[in-house]
Amino acid sequence: MSDHVLVVDFGAQYAQLIARRVREAHVYSRIVQSSISADEVAALAPAAIILSGGPKSVYEVPAPSLDPRIYELGIPILGICYGAQLMALQLGGEVAHTGAGEYGRTELSRIGPSSLMEEWSQNTTVWMSHGDAITRPPDGFSVTGSSPGAPVAVMENVERRLHAVQFHPEVAHSERGQELLESFLHHVAQIAPTWTNTSIIEEQVALIRRQVGDERVLCALSGGVDSAVAAALVTKAVGTQLTCVFVDTGLMRKDEGEQIEATFTRQFGVELIHVRAQDRFFDALAGVIDPERKRKIIGELFIREFETVARELGRGGDGPRFLVQGTLYPDVIESGSGHAANIKSHHNVGGLPEDLSFELIEPLRSLFKDEVRHVGEELGLPAEIVWRQPFPGPGLGVRIVGEVTRERAEILRNADHVVVDEIKKAGLYRELWQSFAVLPAVRTVGVMGDGRTYAYPIIIRAVTSDDAMTADWARLPYDVIEAIANRLIREVDGVNRVALDVTSKPPGTIEWE
Ligand code: XMP
Repeated sequence: MSDHVLVVDFGAQYAQLIARRVREAHVYSRIVQSSISADEVAALAPAAIILSGGPKSVYEVPAPSLDPRIYELGIPILGICYGAQLMALQLGGEVAHTGAGEYGRTELSRIGPSSLMEEWSQNTTVWMSHGDAITRPPDGFSVTGSSPGAPVAVMENVERRLHAVQFHPEVAHSERGQELLESFLHHVAQIAPTWTNTSIIEEQVALIRRQVGDERVLCALSGGVDSAVAAALVTKAVGTQLTCVFVDTGLMRKDEGEQIEATFTRQFGVELIHVRAQDRFFDALAGVIDPERKRKIIGELFIREFETVARELGRGGDGPRFLVQGTLYPDVIESGSGHAANIKSHHNVGGLPEDLSFELIEPLRSLFKDEVRHVGEELGLPAEIVWRQPFPGPGLGVRIVGEVTRERAEILRNADHVVVDEIKKAGLYRELWQSFAVLPAVRTVGVMGDGRTYAYPIIIRAVTSDDAMTADWARLPYDVIEAIANRLIREVDGVNRVALDVTSKPPGTIEWE
């Protein structure tokens, strides 16, 4: 990898955000643990280093530190918040608990010329979050910015190309934060903005070609974004050497199989094995109510179906040797371990039996989700696939509360389609983390026309979230809820009542099972 940036993680939730902001400036970045040694850094030869913020005080014991020889490597460094204080302390400056911490919007005043804030006006709004503050810069540093609670809010040693800011340039509330990062990357560190979707694709295509040679490759398509983009990249690299497998469990969203087929078979000309396994899934799920058992049954049966196809293809000895996985960067970043390489082997093989020993191809393992979507768009995947909301592996199976039957799956699939369609029409689809229908297997009494009905309710579930760890129920406009409810009753046979889930996570989970 040519000009890249290392983001040293001091345990803040901001490290990933910094890495993404750097990439938005078209410079490749990767996150490393703070225990990385100067020798390891030298071996990676980054064009710049950014030290992240962190939750600790530099005076706490233990508090994460940095191999001080890293400052001597001549690589431009930007310290942010904790990273700024650590740099100050390690190079002989002073950090103190002043009792005047700043949290949130703060006014930053520029004092004197600054290579990071060249054209900035006197005052700018920035986002601060600190208790301690640098009170004296190390020798050789000049102070170029200050705030009421941080006398040394920006400092620099131009000769050594060492810079530090007390505020968080990576958060959107810092007015000119991205500009400051870009100044550091492009002007101080002289890194050209060449990392683009096109360059990612070219690089991955070359890597895949080298790894695969003229061997055959297998890919399980789930209907989701990651597997689709991974498969599209492999297709671009080795075309007809790829075989895709789509196992229809009967628990997919409406038209999912057709869309996959249209895209990969007709548009990309890839060999696609469409396994119509619905009957086997419904048979296996008959009478099962316990959510964990459902998950287990669906997961195991999926693997068995996939394995059958793989063995069939391997008959005669020339089966695929490689398996494509849609592993993303957040899955790869190891949290909390003290080691610099910080790569964990991923769980993604999904428990495939060992005698199906594939070599993995993971073309997305350096990318964040939003980057994957943009790469997908550039590869020509349809927007319906690229911008699809997350969908759980067990599919509609964990959205039918109670026994999963063919009839209920069909009702729920149609209901889900209505919910998503109205959410899209209202222009809300991309801003919601997920929006879908849930079918509890109870029936209630209603009246329609002249007759009494006895049918299922549908529950509308729509949430906002950044990472699915926590979520809030979405405040959908009443007219959108009304439009969904009207269509559910009118268009979906078997439904006579609509309810709205107003539970956040916690205490609820996003899915109902
Ligand atoms: P919960 O329901 O735990 O879901 O709040 C968090 C996120 O994970 C998705 N989810 C799954 N994804 N296999 C998956 O691949 C699963 O078994 C599974 N269960 C939940 C869910 O859709 C949400 O985005």
